[in-house]
Amino acid sequence: MPKPSKTRLVKAAWQARERAVAPYSRFQVGAALLTRRGRVVTGANVESASYGLTCCAERVALFKALTEGEKEFVAIAVVARSDGGAMPCGACRQLLAEYAPDAKVWIADARRPERVREFSVKELLPGPFVSLES
Ligand code: THU
Repeated sequence: MPKPSKTRLVKAAWQARERAVAPYSRFQVGAALLTRRGRVVTGANVESASYGLTCCAERVALFKALTEGEKEFVAIAVVARSDGGAMPCGACRQLLAEYAPDAKVWIADARRPERVREFSVKELLPGPFVSLES
């Protein structure tokens, strides 16, 4: 059985997914970040008519949390209606590596939220670029 915090975070991501703004792909994604302080910050993907401006759910959640003063993250849950869930894209992996390097990444299919796959940010992006200083 998933731990309560995992269940809670996946549920928050599941709910956040309902607020996705995805008129072009119609692929709705929800994300929820758990901060060290125990706060949950959610996000969903937002698409643009200029497709490349689209922002993934993970980055919306991360940008929200960072600009609300959160600095330490325990986990991020990502929920989409896709077999096994949707894995974070490369851009999101980079941002997670920079700002949430120790976070667990919990991935779930919206149709089976009780089945959660777990990854570490480090395994999703080995050898990240994180600083201009050598
Ligand atoms: N998307 C996310 O929000 N997160 C992911 O992990 C995968 C992809 C969004 C971006 C776009 O709005 C839609 O899903 C299709 O790629």
